[in-house]
Amino acid sequence: MNNFISVKDVTDIDALVAKALLFKQQPFAESLLGNNKKIGLLFLNPSLRTRISTQVAAKNLGMEAIVFNVDKEGWALEFTEGAVMNGTTVEHVKDAAPVLGSYFDILCIRTFPSLKNREEDYAETIINQFILHAGVPVISLESATLHPLQSLTDVITITESLKEKNITKPKIVLSWAPHIKPLPQCVANSFSQWINAWGKADFVITHPEGYELDEQFTKGATITHDQQEALKNADFVYVKNWSSYHDYGAMPAVEGDWMLTNEKLASGNQAKIMHCLPVRRNVELSDELLDGPNSLVTEQGANRVWAAQAVIAEMLTRKTNK
Ligand code: CP
Repeated sequence: MNNFISVKDVTDIDALVAKALLFKQQPFAESLLGNNKKIGLLFLNPSLRTRISTQVAAKNLGMEAIVFNVDKEGWALEFTEGAVMNGTTVEHVKDAAPVLGSYFDILCIRTFPSLKNREEDYAETIINQFILHAGVPVISLESATLHPLQSLTDVITITESLKEKNITKPKIVLSWAPHIKPLPQCVANSFSQWINAWGKADFVITHPEGYELDEQFTKGATITHDQQEALKNADFVYVKNWSSYHDYGAMPAVEGDWMLTNEKLASGNQAKIMHCLPVRRNVELSDELLDGPNSLVTEQGANRVWAAQAVIAEMLTRKTNK
């Protein structure tokens, strides 16, 4: 694994999941792997789970993790090639990334989309510029369009739950949820990409009209505007808001109430409820579901450590074998 930006960087999803679950059993099984190595975590926007779980994962591998809040503590970065930097940006990524690469063995970056310019966001300019100029492996801590550590965690959490449920081919539903402001498509894109690549589920995506995602991620899933139909016999319901991809960043008006409740799931399969967090309670998801016996949200958050640890260990092993 050279970089970890999307599911395309993973040759065997189940093997990576198995590695993560092994770390869950034995967190310090490879505690010398990262000895005398450093990992840099750069944040261009806030985080609770991604930041701390990656730090814990690195520590379990004997690595030192250094966090840098670029948006608050660093110079304003420029990403445009050939830019005349007479405005607000102070330092070009071409200058900053190689320096950061010289400090660290692995560089991790969290960015966010502008939600204003789709072409720019979907070109993943920021993370690609770091990959181009850092000279060390790069891990995405969420990019403009994808959130691969979250999606790996989600597959880990589903895999664990499947063992308990004794199901071989689950029905997994990604269900759009309301929100008070426009959010990126990253989590929904990434979840779709991973579940499709995993290939072990009957995968259904349900959302209101106007919230179609980029087909490059959803191809292979059944897509419906009928939420109630989608929820029938679901084993897992992943709840998430996203803004419009086609009318980029907009929040088209929605008919009906899309917030998931116990009542909507009443005729179902005792579906497990998933959300990446943070969640707006009683806007995206009802208290009754979040606090109920079928909620997996805490397990998902906790499993972020094992996903990060598996990915970092893969990279360290590759570097060691080089
Ligand atoms: N799910 C997730 O990425 O959480 P944070 O934004 O808190 O890192």
